[in-house]
Amino acid sequence: MPLELQWAVDERIAGLEALLERVCEACFALEGIENAGMTVRIASKEEVHDLNREMRGVDRETDVLSFPTASFRPGRTAGMDPARVRRQYDPSLGWCNLGDCVISLSRAREQAREYGHSLARELGYLTAHSAFHLMGYDHENETDRAAMRQMEERAMHRVSLARTEEDPMTDQQLFDLACEAMHKAYTPYSGFKVGACLLSSDGRAFQGCNIENASYGATICAERSAVSRAMMEGARSFTAIAVVGSSAQAWPCGICRQVLNEFSDNMRVLCGQYGQDFEVVPLAELLPHSFGPEHLGVQEDSDGK
Ligand code: THU
Repeated sequence: MPLELQWAVDERIAGLEALLERVCEACFALEGIENAGMTVRIASKEEVHDLNREMRGVDRETDVLSFPTASFRPGRTAGMDPARVRRQYDPSLGWCNLGDCVISLSRAREQAREYGHSLARELGYLTAHSAFHLMGYDHENETDRAAMRQMEERAMHRVSLARTEEDPMTDQQLFDLACEAMHKAYTPYSGFKVGACLLSSDGRAFQGCNIENASYGATICAERSAVSRAMMEGARSFTAIAVVGSSAQAWPCGICRQVLNEFSDNMRVLCGQYGQDFEVVPLAELLPHSFGPEHLGVQEDSDGK
């Protein structure tokens, strides 16, 4: 666990911990350091303002503050000095604590609105920005700023948060992510590996693979494994799914078609065989005259309460 998430506000955001964990992991992996972690505190704008004044002598609101535990020599970052990272080992946490990031939730919300992307993306970005500060990056001059920015962008791509309306994920990228997931499949019985990647309405991508079982009926298909992962990260509505089979085109089975129908308004289904082209069809074509939440008076993104 490379992250300790602290909530200093009343509100909770579903799936945020898992998302920020992935962001931190991506940042540390890009820097090439191991067993590192950080604390992220989701705070009010007043708390962030007070901290900014007390700790930095800057009397104004801001979006994110970073408090590193280690300082790296000028021009050097954590990856160049792994011994310094190891010295931050905290036995009670079980990882090397690189410091604290404090985010103003209301500022993050305002910025997300301003940039036209999701709050999850903004919180992910601010966490990545802070993680690189904790690893010795800064933006004092143009060269350093560009280097830091490039690392942030790479991290955001790794966790599929780099997408905005101007830069949507292409079908080929979604299919490639399904192919990547296929390699994780557990298929000792059929040997038929399936990978899937769901695209949520806010631009995030969630991978899944099939997981077989000695009691054959307990097998989970790749599509439903992707849906489970997405649910846990707070995504509820999807615009597309890519599905790839290792030795044949893997059209979603009947159960998966029904499950996908629960969470989309006719999502696009990309389907192909590994190493070959894919076809794209709307879900309604695979599941005509479907029965869905609307028939029971349930709104598409309702939580069922
Ligand atoms: N499989 C999927 O993962 N998705 C589908 O929609 C069709 C079937 C998997 C389940 C099982 O592990 C293997 O393919 C053979 O049925």
